[in-house]
Amino acid sequence: MLICNGFAQGSRLLLQVLAAAGYRRLAVEDPSDDELRAVAAAAGLESVGIPVLEAGLDVEALERSGADVVLVTAAHQFPTGAVTSAQTRSALIEWATRREALIIEDDYDAEYRYDREPIGAMQGLAPDRVAYAGTASKTLAPGLRLGWLILPERLVEPMATAKFVDDRGSSVLDQLTFADFVARGEFDRHLRRMRPRYRLLRDTLVGQLAEKVPDLRPVGVSAGLHVMTWLPPDLTERDVTRAARERGVGVYGLRPYWVQNAGPEGLVFGYGSVTGPAVVEGIDLLADAIAAVRK
Ligand SMILES: Cc1ncc(COP(=O)(O)O)c(C=O)c1O
Repeated sequence: MLICNGFAQGSRLLLQVLAAAGYRRLAVEDPSDDELRAVAAAAGLESVGIPVLEAGLDVEALERSGADVVLVTAAHQFPTGAVTSAQTRSALIEWATRREALIIEDDYDAEYRYDREPIGAMQGLAPDRVAYAGTASKTLAPGLRLGWLILPERLVEPMATAKFVDDRGSSVLDQLTFADFVARGEFDRHLRRMRPRYRLLRDTLVGQLAEKVPDLRPVGVSAGLHVMTWLPPDLTERDVTRAARERGVGVYGLRPYWVQNAGPEGLVFGYGSVTGPAVVEGIDLLADAIAAVRK
């Protein structure tokens, strides 16, 4: 296990090490977080977008892509919230094994699930083919900059070297404090405390949307700290996010997340750092913004 300054550093070092080892093409979920593609390009890797279906990545498209490494947010896809089915997970592992490829499993919000049983990490099924990435950013605080990679044996040495060269190692004080927090059971207590709070916020958000803007359909709501909705054809992300911003509400469009071609329009709502009353007020203002756009 390699401790790093969040997924940001872990993924950057991993892509650099993979590029140096001869990997050429990174497959990413389409849509997905846009920052990683820039990091991949800087490392000399080509990125290719693979559509995300309801059951996770389209493995047939992955087969055709010629990629030798794929990044998945399998437990709760960012931003669609899709949960990768057991069948798709097996197909991914089968692909990686046959192609001698690597799966990067970004398990960024795995601890917050509300309506379903936790899903085991793919890493446990194929430790040789999966690099697992965990982070304290969603469970504790993004400011901690604490993440961890569980790596296939062959990548441990080059990654440890890359980390040492990059910054001589993550803050020992932070690591010891976190280890103590875990050892005393405080981390588990924190998760048990936060799960119902986030679930209530999620319920408030979904309920408010259904009541005040029923034609925004939320998807992928069963886990995590964000919800995505598709937009009806008469609304555009640009108009809605702008009108919302003018009223002090931060909702985000999907556009930056599309990789290959811009897909349908949608909105992403984060609820990790807001209160219940703020959600109610925010959706009131959003409804007002949408009414104004439709005038
Ligand atoms: C898709 C995804 N992966 C990983 C992370 C975590 O990144 P980091 O550990 O660098 O804060 C985030 C954001 O918190 C994210 O949205």
